[in-house]
Parts: sequence; C-alpha cells; structure tokens
Amino acid sequence: MAVTILRTVSELRRWRDQLRPGVRVGFVPTMGSLHEGHLSLLREARRRVPEGAGHVALSIFVNPTQFGPNEDLDRYPRDEAGDLAKAREAGADVAFCPLDPHEMFPESAATWVEVPALATGLCGASRPGHFRGVCTVVTKLWNLVRPDVAVFGQKDFQQLAILRRLHADLFLCGELVGMPIVREPDGLAMSSRNANLPPDARLRARAIPRFIAEVQRRFTRGARARTELLADATALLEPGVIDYVELVDAATLAPVADVERPALLAVAVHFAGVRLIDNTVLEP
Ligand code: PAF
Repeated sequence: MAVTILRTVSELRRWRDQLRPGVRVGFVPTMGSLHEGHLSLLREARRRVPEGAGHVALSIFVNPTQFGPNEDLDRYPRDEAGDLAKAREAGADVAFCPLDPHEMFPESAATWVEVPALATGLCGASRPGHFRGVCTVVTKLWNLVRPDVAVFGQKDFQQLAILRRLHADLFLCGELVGMPIVREPDGLAMSSRNANLPPDARLRARAIPRFIAEVQRRFTRGARARTELLADATALLEPGVIDYVELVDAATLAPVADVERPALLAVAVHFAGVRLIDNTVLEP
C-alpha cells in the first residue's frame, strides 16, 4: 500500500481527528533526504506501533526557521519521491509533506518555543536561533500529530536533550524515544548532508570517527581528564575546519574538566563547506 500524503495542516488535522480512540500513532519528524539513520527511526516506530495497532507517520519538512542566513537552506538535499518509497519500505503509512513553508509558519505566526538552558553551547553557540526553530516546529508538529510515540536520533544529541526537556516541560502527550547513531561502513555518521560532500572531502571526513575512536580508546585505558582525553587528539580532525570539540555533562550539557559521570564528546567540523556533527557518550 502506498503512503498517504498530506500536504496541508487541515489535511493532517482531518486525518488525525478521524482516528478511532485506541488507534496508536508513531511519529518520526524529518527534513527528508532519508538515509539509514532515519529508516532506523521509522522501523522503531513501526516496532512500537505494529500494523493493525495503528499508523506510523513521518513529516518531511525542511524547516526554514532552523537555518541561519548564511547556512545551507538552499542547498539542503531534497528527494521527496525517493523518501516516500524508502519510508514505505521502513513501515510508514502516512507522510505530512507541506509544499509551502507558510503552512507551518504563516505570516501571522508570532509564537516561538525555546529551551535556552540547554541551547547556548555546542551547536547553539555556532547556530544562533537554530534550536528555537527546531523547538517551535517540533511543538507544532507534535500538537498536530498527537503521537503515542515519537522517535528521534542521537546524532543530534543536543537536539534530543532539548526536545526531552521540552516534552517534559510542556506536558506533551506520548513518549519520546532516542535511537543510536547509524554509521557508514567507514564509521562516518549518516547524515543527509553527507550527500553534499565532494568525493575528496567525503574521504577526509573519515577523520571524525577516527577522532572519536581515539578519544574512546584513551577513555577505555583510564584517561578521565579533558586535557588527557582531547589534547593532541584534535589534530586528527585537522583535514577539516573545526567548529567545536566539546566534552560536556551528558545531562546538563555543561562543560566538564573530568569525566566523573556520563559525558558527551561532541564535535562539529566543516569539510568543503559542509558542516558535519558527531558524538559519543563516555560512561565511567
Ligand atoms: O532532526 C531533524 O531532522 C530536524 O531538526 C527536525 C527534528 C525534523 C525538526 O525540523
């Protein structure tokens, strides 16, 4: 069966309102250009909402409000037909794909959702306004879809931490589930932006998983101090332009000097103008 495509907020509302009580809804918000990482989220949603028990919906919406003025909104890869075929294979049966960004952000919209306590460091520092755009669109989508379960990836660890806070603070319905990073065979974290890497930059980007593996090796051998863990290891990233390399508390996202509780090693690096992020959690 093909995926039911909904183009407008009214169509999405109508679809949600006609579901009988007890019919469950799994939801995966995306910006499209689906890869195995997204498909793992859809499969998890389907596992939690089996056929017969309800629906798995995804949204495909390149949200302009989470891009800064000099970022890659215009270059963000798009392939709706390919996405719908992949989403169907992974178990989705409904897709909300607005054609016009005004559908989500009409001229009259004046409400923003923010979680400043978790959004100032890491990606929030280099992408001001990014998480405000993410929180606002996710809140809108959540209110429309009213999912029993929504699934997000841990590659965007800071996004996941912020959305967990938002979900709890705004008493949003259902459950929010995080899923592990899915990697290419050479270790590079899957990302829609990988499609924009020229071949030589794609090879150089292998430096990111190598760097993460090196820090993990040091940690496994007993290093706990930030200086020991990171010091010269950041040189491994040098074929790219480092945006940040951070070691932060995995719960509060505040920088740590020593790993005494679970800590997040997070990096953002530009290769040929493409910004890639990756992370791992170091668990003492
Ligand atoms: O992670 C993403 O793809 C986006 O930030 C999200 C959650 C779909 C909001 O636009």
